[in-house]
Amino acid sequence: MEFYEVIHSRRAVRQYRPDPVPKEVLQRILDAANWAPSGMNRQQWYFVVASGEKKKALGASYAKIAERYTTRWDDAERRKQFIEFAQTYGGAPVVIVALTDAAGDPATRKMNLESVSAAFENLLLAACAEGLGSCWMTGPLQDEASLRQILNIPYDKEIVAVTPIGYPAFQPPAPPRLDPELKEKVLWVE
Ligand SMILES: Cc1cc2nc3c(=O)[nH]c(=O)nc-3n(C[C@H](O)[C@H](O)[C@H](O)COP(=O)(O)O)c2cc1C
Repeated sequence: MEFYEVIHSRRAVRQYRPDPVPKEVLQRILDAANWAPSGMNRQQWYFVVASGEKKKALGASYAKIAERYTTRWDDAERRKQFIEFAQTYGGAPVVIVALTDAAGDPATRKMNLESVSAAFENLLLAACAEGLGSCWMTGPLQDEASLRQILNIPYDKEIVAVTPIGYPAFQPPAPPRLDPELKEKVLWVE
C-alpha cells in the first residue's frame, strides 16, 4: 500500500474476524514500532503481545469497565453490544499493550509518552499496511491494577495504550476531519 493510502485508510477497527495473525506479521509491525524516533534516543517503548488466555483475561477486565461505564445507558441493546465488544476486544485474536518507562519528573514523563506514542502510531500504520485492523484505546487503562496483575507489569513501567490486532470484519467509514482545509489548525508564519 502506498504511504498516503495507509495514512488515509487506517481506521479505528472495533470488529474483527477470528483468523489468527501470523507471528512474522506481528513481528514486522512491532519492528516498525521499534524504528520510531525517541527522546534522547532512549527507545523507551515496550510491548506486551497478548493472545489466548491472557487476551481473555484482558477482555474480562475491560468488560467490567464497560459494565460500569454504561450503567446509566437507556439503550439496553447498545449497552450489551458495547460490553460484548469489550469482553472480546471486538473478536480480535491479539491485543497489544504499549508501555514506557515510568518517570516522576513531568518533563521526562512527557518525553517518554511522546516516544511510545510515536512508536504506537508506527505500529498502527504498519498494521494497516499489512491489511490488519487496530484501535488505539485508553479505556481499558481505567482498571490499571488488573492490567498490571494479568500481564505482570512492574511499577517502573507506565501503561500507555492498548490495541486489538486482527483482520477487520469490515472497513469502518472515515470520520470527517474537523478542519480538512487546515485553515484553523495550521498557522503559516514568515
Ligand atoms: C489517545 C486515544 C485514546 C483512544 N481511546 C479509545 C478507547 O478507549 N476506545 C475506543 O473504542 N477508541 C479509542 N480511541 C480511538 C478513537 O476513538 C478514534 O481514533 C477516533 O474516533 C477517530 O477514528 P479513526 O481512528 O478511525 O480515524 C482512542 C484514540 C486515541 C488516539
